[in-house]
Amino acid sequence: MLAMNRFALHGDLLDFTGAPAWGSTEDAAVRWRPDHWLLVENGRIAGVQPEPPDASWPRIDHAGKLILPGFIDTHVHCPQLEVIASYGTELLDWLKTYTFPAEARWHDAEVARAGAARFLDALIAHGTTSAVVFPTVHKISAEALFEAGRERGMRLITGKVLMDRHAPENLRDDVKGAQADCEDLIRRFHGVERLGYAVTVRFAPTSTPEQLAMAGALCKADASLYMQTHVAENRDEVRWVAGLFPEARSYLDVYARVGLLHERSVLAHGIWLDEDDRAALVQSGAQVAHCPSSNLFLGSGLFAWREAREAGMALSMASDVGGGTSLSIQRNLLDAYKIQALRGERLTAWVGLHSATRGAAQALGLVQEIGSFDAGCMADICVWNWASCSVSAAREAAASGLHERLFAWMCLSDAGNLHAAYIAGRAVHSGSER
Ligand code: GUN
Ligand code: ZN
Repeated sequence: MLAMNRFALHGDLLDFTGAPAWGSTEDAAVRWRPDHWLLVENGRIAGVQPEPPDASWPRIDHAGKLILPGFIDTHVHCPQLEVIASYGTELLDWLKTYTFPAEARWHDAEVARAGAARFLDALIAHGTTSAVVFPTVHKISAEALFEAGRERGMRLITGKVLMDRHAPENLRDDVKGAQADCEDLIRRFHGVERLGYAVTVRFAPTSTPEQLAMAGALCKADASLYMQTHVAENRDEVRWVAGLFPEARSYLDVYARVGLLHERSVLAHGIWLDEDDRAALVQSGAQVAHCPSSNLFLGSGLFAWREAREAGMALSMASDVGGGTSLSIQRNLLDAYKIQALRGERLTAWVGLHSATRGAAQALGLVQEIGSFDAGCMADICVWNWASCSVSAAREAAASGLHERLFAWMCLSDAGNLHAAYIAGRAVHSGSER
């Protein structure tokens, strides 16, 4: 483990200064600084320069490697690593058949602690240094995750899952007990080091109107809290919600009516939204976490990314493991590209990579802290091999122009390409040499 106060990393630096335009392969928002030095001091980015720094900066040479801000996964389920790649179901059956039984085991403190550590180490090994995470309904699962996140110095946003109906008995809470648990967790973890609390409504069907109102009241009482949930993922789910909440204009409106839609809200999926929903999202500042590998795997639908952008919605990239099939952000970006291709659209590497770095940071209100190499940001940094095998090496050698090179990397790389990762300037992972 590296614990220097200051050091300098050498390599090919890529980050963004703003949002790249849809469809533009040459974009002024792309900040490409090949063969540069990234200066890190006291866990933060101190600057970037083309020439090597003076001898007071210990040097780490990653020449010829791609250096990116650590990825931000805005929607992923800690207890679902063990149900990743489960056969044969759409969302509602998948929850019942695989997910709920797996989550029920997390009432046990040892399962929760070991699972949280394994999960965060897996995220880091995939180049993800910040995340918005669902644990389970059990208070211990959120405690274990917060503690494991704090030990790793990560930017981690999570909160106990709220679900008081339409779930097995051993996965249900009640309004009063859940409120007390949330308040206790908020007091102990929210704003502590790099931890943030998210009021975590699983999805509208598994909370009573009373529980949704309680969750909304928590958000109204403290505007610094995040909120995470699922919305409009699957057509059967949307129909179910319409039956459960006939007074709401739409699925999204169920959340809006109780104060759960605000600028710190992260709503996963958002496939089956209409124009009024998009306008409500824009007005509230809430973001959609797009979960491409999950949407394909569970057959949920094809996300309308261009329409979301044209409406002005905040948007970020997410793995949604275990509905999603990989923690790798690159794998998810490749799936996102394919989804857009099926819709007759094209996702550039720039729009894709931005959505998992600066774009996600912006949507979370954390652009001063994560997602770029701006001076003052935390030094959450990943160093990647450009290629990991003879096929990717040949493709990389044939690429002409920066976008072609990054696009091929986005499509062909995964966790196996990760060479090193730093969180707040601390080396937390060292991978293969290529
Ligand atoms: N909707 C409610 N719970 C879940 C979950 O665990 N995963 C996904 N993909 N959708 C959900
Ligand atoms: Zn999910």
